[in-house]
Amino acid sequence: MTDMRMVRKEAEATSSGLDKIVAAETRLSDVDGEAGRLVIAGFDVADLVTAHDFEETTALLWKAAGLPDADRTDMKAAMGAARVEAFALAPRLPASVDGLTMTEGLRTGLSLISDEGTRPVQQRLVGAMPVFVAALARRAKGQAAIAPDPALGQAADFLRMLRGEPATAAEIEALDAYMVTVTDHGMNASTFTARVIASTRAGMVSAVVGALCALKGPLHGGAPGPVLDMLDAIGTRENIEPWLKAEIAKGERLMGFGHRVYRVRDPRADVFNKAVMTLTNGNERLQFAREVEAAALTALRASKPGTRIDTNMEYYTALLLEALNIPNEAITPVFAMARVAGWTAHVMEQERVGRIIRPQSVYVGPFPHDKDSAAA
Ligand code: ACO
Repeated sequence: MTDMRMVRKEAEATSSGLDKIVAAETRLSDVDGEAGRLVIAGFDVADLVTAHDFEETTALLWKAAGLPDADRTDMKAAMGAARVEAFALAPRLPASVDGLTMTEGLRTGLSLISDEGTRPVQQRLVGAMPVFVAALARRAKGQAAIAPDPALGQAADFLRMLRGEPATAAEIEALDAYMVTVTDHGMNASTFTARVIASTRAGMVSAVVGALCALKGPLHGGAPGPVLDMLDAIGTRENIEPWLKAEIAKGERLMGFGHRVYRVRDPRADVFNKAVMTLTNGNERLQFAREVEAAALTALRASKPGTRIDTNMEYYTALLLEALNIPNEAITPVFAMARVAGWTAHVMEQERVGRIIRPQSVYVGPFPHDKDSAAA
């Protein structure tokens, strides 16, 4: 192997996860992993939750992405109308979604949307999410889809369409806080996917469908379901330590812990912890989850002394969405229902850049010359 090829191989090895590679400039959010600080559209995440609901946050993101009138649009009315439009597509959610996971069903549903339409495509995508997620969750239980109420906000209408009856004010507030908190989060895997697709000018619908596919994996947005499975598998207080130790010894990852960027506690976990406390009143399940969290952190720190692993937001997402009676299978789709605000804003930002994202790879297979040398 030539010196040059060794140098190139070494460079490849240090960036297999693209750590620390800056792939875009953005006005949408900033993740400071050392300080445990998340800024979205100019607000610290905890302040954003207090000051703005999901519709307003989406408008702030779209404005930051270059839509100057976004915050002057009546976003609540626009999204209500977009939900009504999406409901007309719901009967076309084919029977072929049966047998698929709910995230895969949502992927099929989003593919029914056209990039062309009278209403802006970003509004139609954001409006379609709660309609499709609620319809898929009901379909899984053999229940008919419920039509949207355009007068309600996204969080309130989603819970109503899911359950068939209005949610309480506390539940709506908790879901809205969750949705605001996860609207955007730097260059995470699904957002990067959306930007790569947008850079090819494939259009916003394709970018959002691709982003959802990236979100589905358990190392990204697919973690909360397995967090609940883990709590159920542990079952009793006595089993906490032995179960966690056995998983770590097998080389398994504990879901809800660790993060590529945060080296301290994920600030979003605290927002959710507060909301889950309000909803559950610190019930038995929450206390058990806290004991598992503490034991998991001790076990992870003991097994990886040089690595700073902390709780990520998926741990408390799982508990919060469970407290809202959202089925385990619908948790990742509900995440997508909020993150779509960020994805669509990133697509707009990327389309403005106008340059295709096209990194390089390092070939480590044989060259014809190497085969000749091996034969000699
Ligand atoms: N359980 C056990 N070990 C872990 C965990 C975990 N949850 N997280 C990291 N580690 C280990 C890694 O295996 C690695 O060990 P090694 O050096 O022996 O190979 C070491 O800690 C360092 O890992 P990092 O480089 O910090 O992790 P990376 O950036 O590659 O991965 C990730 C981050 C994917 C989130 C990882 O922590 C993980 O798999 N967590 C569990 C899944 C999860 O909770 N995902 C949700 C993330 S939040 C979100 O996407 C919205």
